[in-house]
Amino acid sequence: MKGVILAGGSGSRLAPLTRITNKHLLPLYDRPMVTYAVEALVEGGFSELMLVTGGTHAGEFFRLLGNGQEYGIERLFYAYQERPGGIAEALGLAERFVGGERCCVLLADNIFERPLRPVVEKFAAQERGARVILSRIAEEQHLRHLGVAELDGDRIVRIVEKPAEPPSPFAVTGAYFYDEQVWEILPTLEPSGRGELEITDLNNWYVERGQMEADVLDGFWGDAGESIDAYYIVNDFVRNGRRG
Ligand code: G1P
Repeated sequence: MKGVILAGGSGSRLAPLTRITNKHLLPLYDRPMVTYAVEALVEGGFSELMLVTGGTHAGEFFRLLGNGQEYGIERLFYAYQERPGGIAEALGLAERFVGGERCCVLLADNIFERPLRPVVEKFAAQERGARVILSRIAEEQHLRHLGVAELDGDRIVRIVEKPAEPPSPFAVTGAYFYDEQVWEILPTLEPSGRGELEITDLNNWYVERGQMEADVLDGFWGDAGESIDAYYIVNDFVRNGRRG
């Protein structure tokens, strides 16, 4: 299984900070944000990673991560997204890198307290399809900024992107697992209202065919790119943890 880190996008919600750098290079306590995603995948057992980025600051990722060996990556590949066309479009750039294997896709602004490895192992044992990680969020207002799962028991029946009325308290986090079918689905997606190819549309393809599994991860989860306040909440979490 290969690991893909998505670190593109315009970062408009963190403007004007993102006018001078890529969102995923902003600090989380004492390190650039993207390094936490790298660490999470390396700990998850991935030795070959691709980082997809775009925009005007792409070169800084080379400066930070180099060939990846300092971070425990055996082979690090890079891809460049010409325009911010959405998460699902960015993923399409990793097709040749992933080859015929399965992949784990991680958004570089997502921070998980718990290790991803148990989920990686479950997906490796899954016959086919996709897998997402859910996180329980108490505040409705927060859920309105995320993808939210509608559930029937513990099965996902639909994922709603940025719902005005969240169908459950379970947010779909930015860690996704896909089998080889993903490359056939991506070209069929249509741009959403915000002009992007949405990862939620890709996920709903699997949901509709009964091929989506989910795990609920307890412990802290945060999307540091969601808003400036979310950025500081994630910063505080990381700082408290790293100070011991
Ligand atoms: C994206 C996804 C959303 C998910 C979130 C997690 O949102 O579209 O479903 O809940 O990442 O970080 P975006 O950051 O593009 O608003």
